[in-house]
Amino acid sequence: MQEVAANIMPGVERQFIGKVHSLVDARTGVRLVSCEFDSGSYDPALYTELGIDRPESIERAVAKRQAEFLAGRYAAALALQHLGPVRNHDVQVGIGAQRNPLWPSGVVGSISHVGSVAVCAVSRRTDKHYLGIDIEVLMSSKVCREVATIVANRRERELLSAQGLSDRVALTLIFSAKESLFKALYPSVRDYFGFEVAEAAELRLKDQTLVLRLNERFATKHNLPRDYECQFTLGEHWIQSVTCGTFAGSMSLIA
Ligand SMILES: CC(C)(COP(=O)(O)OP(=O)(O)OC[C@H]1O[C@@H](n2cnc3c(N)ncnc32)[C@H](O)[C@@H]1OP(=O)(O)O)[C@@H](O)C(=O)NCCC(=O)NCCS
Repeated sequence: MQEVAANIMPGVERQFIGKVHSLVDARTGVRLVSCEFDSGSYDPALYTELGIDRPESIERAVAKRQAEFLAGRYAAALALQHLGPVRNHDVQVGIGAQRNPLWPSGVVGSISHVGSVAVCAVSRRTDKHYLGIDIEVLMSSKVCREVATIVANRRERELLSAQGLSDRVALTLIFSAKESLFKALYPSVRDYFGFEVAEAAELRLKDQTLVLRLNERFATKHNLPRDYECQFTLGEHWIQSVTCGTFAGSMSLIA
């Protein structure tokens, strides 16, 4: 595993961007970049200073949204630098019609942010055909009660609790894993699918892997495999999920 120190930044950028971590994830082989940011130090001029385009839809957004978008795109720019030559006019990561990030050709990637942290995962399309990342703060017990039946069915929750996970960890993990699966598959399916479409089917706690299984109808409709491995990391107060892989044969031509 290789870790790279943050770029040294002068003045206002340094106040906005905090610690940056960049590494190749040993489990998945994808480049992961995380950066802390301080919404309170946000200034629109930071877009120019950090070399990130500010789309019109973001210009109209509240400052907090502008700040998280900037931090996510900044993490993406650092991650792309590590992939090597990307054509100059392509280095900006645009916004698709359904808010999906638009990556340079030859690249798959994904962005997530929560609180004061933004994370980005990227890979060359020759190595991974789909890639999604998500980071979540552990849900409170109250939120768990409110969303439990939307996010997971009883079988899924029992699968995780049987291995000793608390309700809060179990539900946050299933939620995060499914969000990462959604982001990974959206560019291929262009279909806004819900939590009921995938089910947590197997938990391998020792290697921090949760297998998600698409229902047969959805998988058949989009000519997709049914099973996806989500690699997760359990922090003290947060969970990060990465779902990535390759499609067999002609599926690799999708997107
Ligand atoms: C779109 C969604 C996945 C975003 O997740 P979130 O937890 O609210 O927010 P995160 O910070 O983790 O992720 C936001 C990032 O996701 C990415 N994203 C948004 N829509 C996306 C899409 N359609 N496809 C891929 N990535 C998308 C963007 O990069 C966005 O950040 P940006 O707008 O700053 O670029 C979520 O709001 C959603 O709608 N989920 C419902 C669908 C779902 O998860 N189904 C489960 C299927 S099993």
